Amino acid sequence: MAGRTRQYELIAPVYDLVSGEWPVYRPGRLAGIAGLRLRPGSRLLVVGCGTGLDLRPVHERVGDGGRFVGLDASRQMLARAGRRPAARGWPGVTLVQGDATAPPSGRLLEALGGDGADAVLCTYALSLIDDWPAAWRAAVALGRPGARVAVVDMQPAQRGPRPARALARLAMWSGGADPAARPWRAVEEHCTDVDRWDLRGGHVQVRAGTLPG
Ligand SMILES: C[S@@+](CC[C@H](N)C(=O)[O-])C[C@H]1O[C@@H](n2cnc3c(N)ncnc32)[C@H](O)[C@@H]1O
Repeated sequence: MAGRTRQYELIAPVYDLVSGEWPVYRPGRLAGIAGLRLRPGSRLLVVGCGTGLDLRPVHERVGDGGRFVGLDASRQMLARAGRRPAARGWPGVTLVQGDATAPPSGRLLEALGGDGADAVLCTYALSLIDDWPAAWRAAVALGRPGARVAVVDMQPAQRGPRPARALARLAMWSGGADPAARPWRAVEEHCTDVDRWDLRGGHVQVRAGTLPG
């Protein structure tokens, strides 16, 4: 098991409390989900889904007829996701343990159905995967032609008070994120109709775009 995955196995029980979701990261998550332009019944692949903080806002858009297929390397993070009320009451949720840089498992392909995902979401995950371009390629290969894809991720803050910028750096360091990764570049390079959000003094970057048809 890779070092960062082991780290997430250990912090899974307290992740929601210590991740800074409500004070810092929630608006980026909601922006990325909005950028996917989900509809009732949409099938969504979530790479590095963690404890499933995306579940409720996605369910509000896709409804019980939609699908949430979450992939994560950490069993403990997935276990937390599976306990969320949105996951328990929603028949369209499948949580799959696996490495996002590896070829997709049969379970993942089956959960997405033969046509692939209508949308792909990566929230605060790619920047802590060493070979994030491989994870990006694997993820978009699972999207149908013309799927929407959103990357929500972090870099050091460029604006704002010095203590806030220091906290942003600390959050990246403690979470194992590479401050130089800037994985949203992939959306800018490979997609059309790109929506952009620059939040929290530039610390949180969101890009959502359309894959080639
Ligand atoms: C910072 S957490 C973000 C979790 C969730 N997306 C969120 O927004 O709260 C990063 C997640 O990426 C997962 N992860 C790290 N490397 C991975 C890999 N190679 N394949 C799949 N998941 C991975 C970790 O287990 C962890 O759950």
